[in-house]
Amino acid sequence: MSRIGWLAGAASVLVATSVFAGAENVVFPKDYKDTFQVVSVRDHHLGGNSIAVIWANKVAIDSVKKKELDSGAIFLMEVWRAKTENNEVVRDAKGRLVRDVVNGINIMEKRTGWGAEYPAEWRNGNWEYAIFTADGAPRTGNLQGCFECHGPLGAAGYDFAYVVGEMREPGAGAGAM
Ligand code: HEC
Repeated sequence: MSRIGWLAGAASVLVATSVFAGAENVVFPKDYKDTFQVVSVRDHHLGGNSIAVIWANKVAIDSVKKKELDSGAIFLMEVWRAKTENNEVVRDAKGRLVRDVVNGINIMEKRTGWGAEYPAEWRNGNWEYAIFTADGAPRTGNLQGCFECHGPLGAAGYDFAYVVGEMREPGAGAGAM
């Protein structure tokens, strides 16, 4: 890489790490398939040909009915690519999309004291957001978007998570887009 390219890269890394000082607090829970539970499966995540499989840890499940979930709550979402044939999505007998491969994993985790360094207009309580590959390696990306899109769920009473409404009242789908 040219020196200028390297400098530009280094500068953007500095900006990213100073603004998003917290994402690296989120440690990938390698054992989530044994210790978390699937709480929702949603087709067409963000309107695309993908399937969101949302897992929650015990702290999240046990405290989901509280106005604010307990410190230590984690939601992990596998974003699956849906199977296609001839550019059409494949559907199972129930009309649901069929999982192909995991494209990436999004996590939100809350801990007492987290989030204090964010500007008030996009702080989401004590939540941090982080993204990983399917194998759990950290990725970089637009984390500000996470705060912005999940932010309104806080004012709506769902502690910044879309799935909380459905977990409180199965089938209600509250908070779904
Ligand atoms: C454009 C809006 C939007 C953006 C941006 C966004 N999300 Fe979400 N997120 C959603 C929606 C909607 C759901 C619920 C799943 C569904 O219905 O597809 C969701 C669900 C989740 C969940 C499962 C818990 C919950 O809230 O239900 C996690 C974890 C998550 N997102 C993490 C992230 C991370 C990390 C980022 C940033 C990289 C991010 N999200 C960016 C809209 C968004």
